[in-house]
Amino acid sequence: MDKKTTINDCRIIDLRKISDVRGNLTPVEASDDIPFGIKRVYYLYDVPGGESRGGHAHKALFQLIIAVGGSFAVTLYDGTNKKSFVLNRPYQGLLVVPGIWRELDDFSSGSVCLVLASEKYNAEDYIRDYDEFLKMKKANDTSFS
Ligand code: TYD
Repeated sequence: MDKKTTINDCRIIDLRKISDVRGNLTPVEASDDIPFGIKRVYYLYDVPGGESRGGHAHKALFQLIIAVGGSFAVTLYDGTNKKSFVLNRPYQGLLVVPGIWRELDDFSSGSVCLVLASEKYNAEDYIRDYDEFLKMKKANDTSFS
């Protein structure tokens, strides 16, 4: 894997939307619709107005972040460049690769953030210290797998 990840490695993935008179359905199949296998799913909900989530990077984890309800903003930072996305469509996901700092905020009332993750929860995979993150990026990402 390229060890020097940038925000250009992160992108919106258009998922399938199967519409009929009964409503819409979006399937996500690991490896076909997204470039990783899914080992974990979690979701954020009942986020109070004005709160922010995230504030960390991962060493090896790939994630797809989906606004399955409502909307919120995701800001990505690779140590050099920053990019913000407003997620508000249940049939689109934001692919976030390892080695990217992320912040989630501007949650609309009742919004639900679904995250598909490539690995089970592992506290060791987190970089929660911003200065440590910057140091790792400047050291050419040798700490990221
Ligand atoms: P945290 O990482 O702070 O949430 P976020 O950064 O997405 O806003 O996680 C909050 C708590 O939940 C923390 O104690 C770790 C725990 N947690 C799990 O047990 N399993 C998981 O899959 C996740 C994402 C978090």
